[in-house]
Amino acid sequence: MNQMMEKLNRCVEVIREKTSFQPEAALVLGSGLGGFGEMVEDALRIPYASIPGFPVSTVPGHAGQFILGYVRGVPVIVMQGRVHYYEGYPMEDVVMPIRIMGMLGAKKLILTNAAGGVNTAFTPGDLMLLEDHISAFVPSPLRGENLDALGTRFPDMSCVYDRHLRQAAEQAAESRGIALQKGVYLQWPGPNYESPAEIRMFRTLGADAVGMSTVCEAIAARHMGLRVCAVSCITNMACGILPQPLSHEEVQETASRVREKFESLILEMIGRFADA
Ligand code: HPA
Repeated sequence: MNQMMEKLNRCVEVIREKTSFQPEAALVLGSGLGGFGEMVEDALRIPYASIPGFPVSTVPGHAGQFILGYVRGVPVIVMQGRVHYYEGYPMEDVVMPIRIMGMLGAKKLILTNAAGGVNTAFTPGDLMLLEDHISAFVPSPLRGENLDALGTRFPDMSCVYDRHLRQAAEQAAESRGIALQKGVYLQWPGPNYESPAEIRMFRTLGADAVGMSTVCEAIAARHMGLRVCAVSCITNMACGILPQPLSHEEVQETASRVREKFESLILEMIGRFADA
């Protein structure tokens, strides 16, 4: 068997030794959203470090554990902390957690992240629903031998972000009085932020937001047939739009300022996704 498939099966086995829990939805908590983990009821926490071969994050603020339990009565598996490509992991390791959550039975995946606003009509603190993405600046997580047990060699990417889930997300936002931008997210490899010329290029290419995660995860999820929905927190205007330099502190500050609104939206989305 393929080495990665063996690694994934082993991770699933180790989790299955701890629980027979069947998640319906999977949720990845991006920068500043980690506190959402506290909303999970009847929670079982499984630290990434206790799973052999599992990629563990090196970024401060990204606690590394799965939380299995219930949100609004829906069985969920939550990733509190994710690994990023810029940490040095190969792309196929970065998406291991997504594949594991799919193998545990999750059918829907909600991805969240912090992103820079490329669209000048955006304001820091805005939330953006992903309508599509640009993956051209990072390698595909599907590169290498295909994992036939999970999906096909040449998966279609014509509608990565599920129409019905997007509709439900928009209704969730409306019902809570939360404004929701929509747009295209571009994954940048990082860890350095982009240059002003790169941001101008991205705008020309049709990007509305830029960040260092999410797209690879969405591709791996679509490969195995999960239905995907993703929301960005626009934590800052992308490089070159405003006169000041970018900083990780600004990203964290905005993320924590928006946290309550973001958590409220995700909570409502999970409730509505049960029927979407
Ligand atoms: N660029 C890339 N990643 C990011 C940004 C940004 O401006 N803000 C938050 N994550």
